[in-house]
Amino acid sequence: MEFQLKQRGRASLHFLSDLAVSTSRFKSRIDADIKAAGLDESTMADDLDDRLRQVDAALAESPAAAALAALTEYSGVNHGRVAAAAFDEVRSELEPRLKALMQGPTTIEPIPGERRPSYADAAWIHRTTGGWDGHEYQGFIHGELIHREYVARNYPGDIFAQRRQILSVLPRRDYQRIFEVGTSSGHYTLQIAAEFPQAEIWGCDPSLRMLEQAQRVANERGLRWRLFHGSADRTGLDADCVDLVTSYIVLHEIPREAIHAQLREAYRLLRPGGDILFSDVTRYAALNKAGVRWAEYNAVHGGEPFWRESASLDLATAARDAGFTQVRSEGFGGGIYPWFVYGHKPA
Ligand SMILES: C[S@@+](CC[C@H](N)C(=O)[O-])C[C@H]1O[C@@H](n2cnc3c(N)ncnc32)[C@H](O)[C@@H]1O
Repeated sequence: MEFQLKQRGRASLHFLSDLAVSTSRFKSRIDADIKAAGLDESTMADDLDDRLRQVDAALAESPAAAALAALTEYSGVNHGRVAAAAFDEVRSELEPRLKALMQGPTTIEPIPGERRPSYADAAWIHRTTGGWDGHEYQGFIHGELIHREYVARNYPGDIFAQRRQILSVLPRRDYQRIFEVGTSSGHYTLQIAAEFPQAEIWGCDPSLRMLEQAQRVANERGLRWRLFHGSADRTGLDADCVDLVTSYIVLHEIPREAIHAQLREAYRLLRPGGDILFSDVTRYAALNKAGVRWAEYNAVHGGEPFWRESASLDLATAARDAGFTQVRSEGFGGGIYPWFVYGHKPA
């Protein structure tokens, strides 16, 4: 949907986005301070909590570390507020259009199984004020303002193209029905729909506000998606009813037990011969000690309570435990991001 923010809202969002670029420059200075304190791959502790304490102690006098912590805190607390304020400035113009776009071929219905997993309220993910449902138009605010104007602006690579490219991992083009876990505001769903135009698209998410934005995105393009409000851990949908179960950057936001539950549920939902493709952040096993420390830093400061337990999980073993064969767990295209796990339900 085309829209124009007011000068104040746009500038405030771009200020925070530019601040993220500026603060990232502190990281090389901090790495140098860590090295100067005698910490490297051979001297950093194997245990992650010990390592975090060790590095914190080494950085106690580092001005760059203090500056990064303060500015990261500022952005973490404020990005959601700034985006909501930017929206509120144009709300009266946008609201009729947003409401109209909820009419169309794409529907939202309650999932027959679990509506809201207990961990959904453990924290405001990303520290966005109120979490995924924190504003009546949080789907638009997150999907269009935070995601496009704050995150994607600085992200290395095209984060929308990455969602499309990952689908090339799949061995088939003839999936009849695709079930997406964690549809959110529909960024990945759009890529799935473009790559598999013949497929019927189902999606689910416990956040109604996010699903409403996915609904608008689909209706605007005349797409017919069936969206379920609820959790992918226990859907209550019929067994053997879909051909592909897929998700993009959902796993790091859910606890380890929920990943196992989603894999088991995906296996149950798939028809024999079906596939899973779950893409997510780099596994800790693929990073060196310093890389894991930075990932932890970003997770803790960025409001990601499950990142560590999720990124430490061996996805290949988890997929095999759920019954999948031909399992692959690796970085896309020989890199380390995005990471994916693929599995096949034997025919
Ligand atoms: C980072 S967003 C997903 C982003 C989206 N796939 C994309 O490509 O832009 C994570 C989403 O997972 C959803 N989620 C969390 N727990 C879930 C669950 N148990 N079942 C389905 N979705 C879940 C959240 O509500 C949130 O909308």
